[in-house]
Amino acid sequence: MAGKAASYRCSECGHAALTWTGQCAGCGAWNTLEELSAPAARSGRRAAGKRAVGPKPVPLRDVKAERSQRLGTGIAELDRVLGGGLVPGSLVLLGGSPGIGKSTLAGMALANIGAAEHEVLYVSGEESASQVRRRAERLGQAALAVPILAEPALESVLAALESERPAACVIDSVQTLAIPDAAPGGVGAVREATSALLEAAKRLDVTLILIGHVTKEGSIAGPRALEHLVDCVLHFEGERERTFRTLRALKNRFGATSEVGVFEMRQGGLVEVADPSARFVGEARPAPGSVVLCAMEGTRPLLVEVQALVAPTEIVPPRRTATGIDRNRLALVLAVLTRHAGVSLSAADVFVNVAGGVRVDEPGADLAIALAVASAHSGRPLETDGKPLACFGEIGLTGEVRYVAHADRRVAEARKFGLSRVLGPPQGDEVIKGLSVVGSIKEALSGSATRGSLRRAA
Ligand code: TYD
Ligand code: MG
Repeated sequence: MAGKAASYRCSECGHAALTWTGQCAGCGAWNTLEELSAPAARSGRRAAGKRAVGPKPVPLRDVKAERSQRLGTGIAELDRVLGGGLVPGSLVLLGGSPGIGKSTLAGMALANIGAAEHEVLYVSGEESASQVRRRAERLGQAALAVPILAEPALESVLAALESERPAACVIDSVQTLAIPDAAPGGVGAVREATSALLEAAKRLDVTLILIGHVTKEGSIAGPRALEHLVDCVLHFEGERERTFRTLRALKNRFGATSEVGVFEMRQGGLVEVADPSARFVGEARPAPGSVVLCAMEGTRPLLVEVQALVAPTEIVPPRRTATGIDRNRLALVLAVLTRHAGVSLSAADVFVNVAGGVRVDEPGADLAIALAVASAHSGRPLETDGKPLACFGEIGLTGEVRYVAHADRRVAEARKFGLSRVLGPPQGDEVIKGLSVVGSIKEALSGSATRGSLRRAA
């Protein structure tokens, strides 16, 4: 008996289901399951007795490896996140909340590609041509040379791609593309537009950058299935009020997803921050509640300042606010501090913030969170020779400080910026010069590790 095939599919995330349900088990969206038409029965495969003639598979070694020349965007941080520039004929989805700088980044990239004598095209469905011109005026001459099509209709965009054949084209934004008989920005419309663009991009060898809005929950609005269609999903994030922005790849068919680009929004557009550690620790002062975290962003070490504030409160339950780190990590670290280091925080509000508006998503941040909170709690700064203390390491549920990768590079980065004292997890047999090993949270808070600073804390 043939296995039962899934006969419903979610139009939002592509989740397959055997039976219809009101809510998709894959993404939680409502009323998105659609019935699939039954596949035609495979008839008489065995009964025929002789082999059917079909396409002939070939060993991978005989497949011609196409190594197409990448298209440099002239923005080193962007090229690095892409894995070495744009791959011709690929589809890149650039997501981020409104006002973060998506149009600016895409406009700058197009300007540079155009300046390198490639045909480019900027399609704006979101802003009028004159609004786009005003942005370009801030970005310079090359940006003003970019041809624009202020046109939201998908049909016209496809026709323009066909006639202009640009090497790179920006669609700003994919949600504003209008399709006959569909509400713009709706799930169906966005997916249909993307599929049509995908087909055109591959056929005409156009590199497409699709700009997409991000919902409050942080996912790219419209169908999540969009992420499956494109080759590369980039996410531009940061806080609007702050100047620093980080660009990461959530998916990349042509490179790693661990690289992060750091930018700063200035008057004349986005400026790459080639040495973010210098920027982030430059402002760090040895004050109570401040500690420097040696984080890894992809293959690059990054120093950031983690700050904590602990204040007495009457509120039950007390406030726990995390900016730039995961809330759940904060909850875990606070519980471990209470249980294994005797730092009682039940009557205190706790705020933890990564300075500069950056986000750190790695377990190696735990020790920095713990030390910052303990320091804020005791009211004593963590310092050595007037410089802030640096640290990294994951904290386990039993209070142990656990191994995280790239200890050597983290320590080297801290020392490069003159931070002489670095606390971190045990490294097995390996000895890392300049690393002060701490095995547990208790040890980290003890006198010898922090040079007596926190003795009163525990
Ligand atoms: P924008 O690229 O329009 O954001 P998005 O497309 O993601 O919505 O730019 C966002 C902000 O950046 C806007 O508030 C103005 C500011 N900005 C500058 O500060 N300097 C500049 O040179 C440019 C072009 C924009
Ligand atoms: Mg925009």
